[in-house]
Amino acid sequence: MAPDLLSVRDLTVGFATENGIARVLDHVSFAMRPGEIMGLVGESGCGKTTLARAILGVLPESAGIDSGSITFGTTNLLGADTQAIRGRDIAFIPQDPFGSFSPLFTVGDQMAELMRWKSPERAPGERGYKRARRRNDAARIIAALKAVQLPDAERLLRKYPHELSGGQRQRVMIAMALLPEPRLVIADEPTTALDVTIQAQILKLLRELATERGASVLFTTHDLGTAWEICDRITVMYAGQEAETAEVADFFSRPRHPYTAMLLASLPTQGSALKGIPGDVPSPFTPPPGCRFHPRCPRASDACRTSHNETAEPASGHHVRCHHPHLWPAA
Ligand SMILES: Nc1ncnc2c1ncn2[C@@H]1O[C@H](COP(=O)(O)OP(=O)(O)OP(=O)(O)O)[C@@H](O)[C@H]1O
Ligand code: SF4
Ligand SMILES: [Mg+2]
Repeated sequence: MAPDLLSVRDLTVGFATENGIARVLDHVSFAMRPGEIMGLVGESGCGKTTLARAILGVLPESAGIDSGSITFGTTNLLGADTQAIRGRDIAFIPQDPFGSFSPLFTVGDQMAELMRWKSPERAPGERGYKRARRRNDAARIIAALKAVQLPDAERLLRKYPHELSGGQRQRVMIAMALLPEPRLVIADEPTTALDVTIQAQILKLLRELATERGASVLFTTHDLGTAWEICDRITVMYAGQEAETAEVADFFSRPRHPYTAMLLASLPTQGSALKGIPGDVPSPFTPPPGCRFHPRCPRASDACRTSHNETAEPASGHHVRCHHPHLWPAA
C-alpha cells in the first residue's frame, strides 16, 4: 500500500476565550492515502473546520496546538516554513467562497494573480512573471474553467465576483484550488450553501477531478448521505475526538464504534441525526474525561470514564477509538 499522504497524530487544539479554554480537538488521529476522497463527518461544532484549518495552517490567533503532529508526505506541517506547500500542494475550498474573493478585482485578475505565484510552472524563488509563462498560465486558467463546466470562460473572466451565481463562484473556487495542481484539496462543506441540483453537480465534479488528477480530497460534511455518495473512506468525529475511520462500505455496514452505530440507527430522522441518542453533546469548556461519548454510551465502563481512549485497528484500515470496540449489526 502507498505511504500516507497526510497523517494527523494526537492533535490537540484549544481556543482561548473569555470563558476559559475551549478544548476543541482532543488527541485526534487519522491518515489519508494518495488519490482518495476522505469524508470528515460530524455534527455542527465537533471540530471539522478547526481540524481543516490546523492542516492548512490558518487557525485563528486565539487557537493553540497543545500537542500532536501533522505530516504531509515527509514534511512536518507544524515545523518550519511550510507556506509554499500550503498554498500549492494543499489547496482549500471554503464553505462560502464569496469571502475568499476580493470584490474589487475581476475573476480573471484574481485567477491571474494566483497563477503568478502558484503556477505549477513557477520555479522556486522565481522573480518576475515572464511572458511565456503568463501565456501558458492563461491557457491553464481557461482549461480549468472548462473542466469545472463553466462555459464561455473568456466572458466570465471579465466579471466581478458579485456578478456570479453561488454555484458559479463555487466552481471558480474549485478551478482555483486545482490550478496549482495540488496533491491534497481540503473542501470544507463546499456545497452546503448551494441548492440541491448544483450540490450534486459539484460533488460529481470533485469526484471526477480527484479520479482524473489523482489528488486526495478531504471533504468535511455533517451529512452522511453526501459522504456516502462521494467518499472512499469516512472519519466520523464526536465532540472533538475522532470516533471511527473506515472504508465507506464498512462504515455503513460494519460499524465498530458505539457512536457510529447509534448515529446510523438514528438516520431516518434526517437532518437531526442525533435525535435518537439520549443526552447532550458535551461543552468544549468542560469535556468529560476519557471518552467524550461516555455520558451517552450504553457500553461505558470505568475505563471509558477515566482513561484516554486510544485508537485501535481491529481490522485492516478500520480504526476505532474505543475501549470496547464491537462489531455492531448494520443499521
Ligand atoms: N475562534 C474560535 N474561538 C473559540 N471557539 C471556537 C472558535 N472557532 C470554533 N470554536 C469552537 O470550536 C468548536 C468546533 O468548531 P468547528 O467550527 O471546528 O466545528 P465544525 O465541526 O466545523 O462545525 P460546523 O459543522 O457547524 O461547521 C465549536 O465548539 C466552536 O464553538
Ligand atoms: S470508549 Fe467506552 S464510552 Fe467511549 S464509545 Fe467506547 S465503549 Fe462507549
Ligand atoms: Mg465547519
